[in-house]
Amino acid sequence: MVVLKAASPPTVPSVNKINNGYPCSNGTIKPLITPSPSSFINLDQGDPEVFRSYWRKKSEECTVVINGEDLMSYLSDTSNVCWFMLPELREAIQRLHRVVGNASVGMDKHIVVGTGSTQLFQAALFALSPSDSPNPINVVAASPYYSEYQEEVEILRSGLYRWGGDAREYDKNEAYIEVVTAPNNPCGSIRRAVANCEGEGKVIHDFAYYWPQYTPITQQYDHDLMLFTFSKCTGHAGSRIGWAIVKDIEVAKKMTRFIQMNSIGVSKESQIRVAKIIGVICDSYQEIGSSLDPDELFFEYSRRKLRERWEKLRAVVDKSNLFYLAKYPKAYCTFTNHTSESYPAFAWMKCKGSIEDCESYLRNLKVLVRGGKRFGVDQKYARISLLSSDDVFNEFLTRISNATRNIGNRS
Ligand SMILES: Cc1ncc(COP(=O)(O)O)c(C=O)c1O
Repeated sequence: MVVLKAASPPTVPSVNKINNGYPCSNGTIKPLITPSPSSFINLDQGDPEVFRSYWRKKSEECTVVINGEDLMSYLSDTSNVCWFMLPELREAIQRLHRVVGNASVGMDKHIVVGTGSTQLFQAALFALSPSDSPNPINVVAASPYYSEYQEEVEILRSGLYRWGGDAREYDKNEAYIEVVTAPNNPCGSIRRAVANCEGEGKVIHDFAYYWPQYTPITQQYDHDLMLFTFSKCTGHAGSRIGWAIVKDIEVAKKMTRFIQMNSIGVSKESQIRVAKIIGVICDSYQEIGSSLDPDELFFEYSRRKLRERWEKLRAVVDKSNLFYLAKYPKAYCTFTNHTSESYPAFAWMKCKGSIEDCESYLRNLKVLVRGGKRFGVDQKYARISLLSSDDVFNEFLTRISNATRNIGNRS
């Protein structure tokens, strides 16, 4: 029997009892590495640690029991286009989108599950590329674009598709695929397709961050091909579950075929765990609703958490006078019924004045971040993850504050 929990198994002490570590599934305690002033802190990756304390509290509720004979078959539901997707996951995904109101999941839509939306992005490229063209189709995205797209497009040197660069500069009279990320990684802005050329364009909408903790939900999207990931929705990146909502059944079939060739499906252990956790979220909104302490509701908790980080960051950055930080317009959120700001998962910072290379500047402060070049823009910019643990985030603030003081002393 395998017992899967959101955070810790019952046999090991909870993290509340041990201040310097958290329990691992193998029963050992993984030490929490509290950053010392002399150590590097990593804010390069968007590893979502920020919501861990919420899921620690929900540990028991999120437990899934898997017996020895369970989930053995490759197959899940052969009546569905995506035959390896468990029906309970499909229903949970539909329920979640109905609760949040961020995407349309009616009967006319096909859901394809993937090992993270990374696999689905590649499945989508495969499905949208013409199979009979002598030349690869161009894949474009408006800069600054998510740094991994270019590498994912180029890694196989595919004969089907190739990287075509910045969507705003694309002027070829040839078919293309545009990737639109909304809210955008790295800069948090809400985006639409921008390529403006004669060629026929298909669009992949990457909605990894279109969840209420990051941005107001302003409409229920209904695009041809939309990607979502559990990694950024709840922070359970390790389960490696993403899903695509697809209008055209032929595209859904081709994506399913790609995943079959790539990994013959998607881990069912992960699928049932994700279905369970989605159920816990939706139950809290639908059954108990507003009688709960807001911090018991996942999107309320996670939005507050990110809002606090943004407020602290803005205060420190304003004082430092070293960086520019984008401001986001307020918008009415149909999920919360309030007007609010965006609290993106990443801070997109631009160095002021004579600092030419933001990544190197922060590296001197022992802060690892991702420089603008990886996103198709200049190195005055850098992306800083706001999804780290509290310790790492607070240490980052301290270092930025100290840098301010050093500069102040020099002038
Ligand atoms: C915009 C965007 N799309 C896709 C992904 C990949 O997500 P997954 O963990 O589902 O592969 C990420 C992860 O950081 C992302 O930022």
